Amino acid sequence: MSAPRHLLAIDQGTTSTRTVLFDDKGQPIFTAQTEFTQIFPQDGWVEHDPEEIWQTVLDTCKQAIAASKEMGGTIAGLGITNQRETSLIWDKKTGKTVYNAIVWQDRRTSETCHSLRDQGHEAMVTEKTGLLLDPYFSGSKIAWILDNQPELRARADNDELAFGTIDSFLLWRLTGGKVHATDATNASRTMIYNIHNNQWDDELLALLNVPASLLPEVLDCASDFGQTDPELFGESIKIAGIAGDQHAAAIGQACFEPGMIKSTYGTGCFVLVNTGDKAISSEHRLLTTIAYRLNGETTYAIEGSIFSAGAAIQWLRDGLGIIKSASDSEAIASGLDGNHGVYLVPAFTGLGSPHWNAEARGSIYGLTRDSGPAEIVRATLESVCYQTNDLFKAMNEDGVKPSILRVDGGMVKNDWLVQQLSDTVDIQVQRPVVTETTALGAAFLAGLQTGVFASLDDLASYWRCEADFEPNMPAQERDTLIAGWDKAIARTLL
Ligand code: G3P
Repeated sequence: MSAPRHLLAIDQGTTSTRTVLFDDKGQPIFTAQTEFTQIFPQDGWVEHDPEEIWQTVLDTCKQAIAASKEMGGTIAGLGITNQRETSLIWDKKTGKTVYNAIVWQDRRTSETCHSLRDQGHEAMVTEKTGLLLDPYFSGSKIAWILDNQPELRARADNDELAFGTIDSFLLWRLTGGKVHATDATNASRTMIYNIHNNQWDDELLALLNVPASLLPEVLDCASDFGQTDPELFGESIKIAGIAGDQHAAAIGQACFEPGMIKSTYGTGCFVLVNTGDKAISSEHRLLTTIAYRLNGETTYAIEGSIFSAGAAIQWLRDGLGIIKSASDSEAIASGLDGNHGVYLVPAFTGLGSPHWNAEARGSIYGLTRDSGPAEIVRATLESVCYQTNDLFKAMNEDGVKPSILRVDGGMVKNDWLVQQLSDTVDIQVQRPVVTETTALGAAFLAGLQTGVFASLDDLASYWRCEADFEPNMPAQERDTLIAGWDKAIARTLL
């Protein structure tokens, strides 16, 4: 009998790295996870130490590879999925980064974006990239790194430096510096990539002052990305899939038909609706993005991006210390008979879709003398539902009216939260059996490229619903709750 074929998926997220081993039916059979340090040097700045990230990737991969060996398996291919937009620059010879990774949540380039907007460049940026002029995306972060140290521009002009999002940095390191590439979904989040002709764009590069010599080659999501350096794991593994985490989640949720929609609750929350081969522009400040590119064909999506979902729960645990672990929040929230008029707007790093306000900061409204930790915990969970509802409102106004929402990510283990989400958005919500959807998407891509899976239909046949949540809240109650949230948002944006 031949050895079972396994797929290795690295999910390099904002707060932790997970490496998951899947079997050839898309079932997770082993997971290794490590959290790493969040660095907050100043108000609105967020950085990661690239070496710490690299170490978490090495450690978790080694554990998963050992687990595969113990099961007598062979690894058919490796897929990478990652926190998007987070930007790194490194030396092409030594592989050493020249600065910490500037994380997607970081707002330090907010002034640059404001001034480009004031100069009237936003329409052109949006038309080419599907994005808005916001510090969230990589473009303005790259120039900030280059201008932060006097010699970096000269080194860039001398072709000594490389830029990459996390996928690209990991690919470079995993291949021992042999491959400098990324995939179309990660490229689509940089603000220097034209999503219509699938090219880095000279006009955008000039606008953002980014030298073309820094850029990786852009490949399809399922491609031959190279082999891991045998020194790392004692064997060479084929790197066969890459996608940004939200795109990978859409693939893992088998959202392959136009109109299919998923929402992932990780550090942030990101809703993607497949729009097929058409790049549809939103009139309501949602993004247009590449859902995936396979065999040279691009499938597009509309995306709503919320910056704080799980991050707010992490703040309850690590910042306020009012819960011991994220899972405590379910019992605390469901133990109250209502929200007692308390609303929390988790604008810790500004607000994303549809407000796009980089300067907004978090706030709590409606506190009374009998408000306590339980009200704050519940308000935090509810904020995730209201923010998702704001995205759906914007989508509906754009004419996109989905009837079923597929959810995934660490937070959706919380039944109370998912029911509240269904009630708030007034939509049927489906939770799949495999909620490791992001990693699954990366494994699916690697499996497509290496022949473990035959087609998208084949992938879709593995998707199973674990639980269905039907909306069950009287309309009047829902309207009152949402009106309270709208007021809290309006005050936060004052
Ligand atoms: O755009 C940022 C996003 O990719 C981060 O995802 O899973 O770390 O919340 P996550």
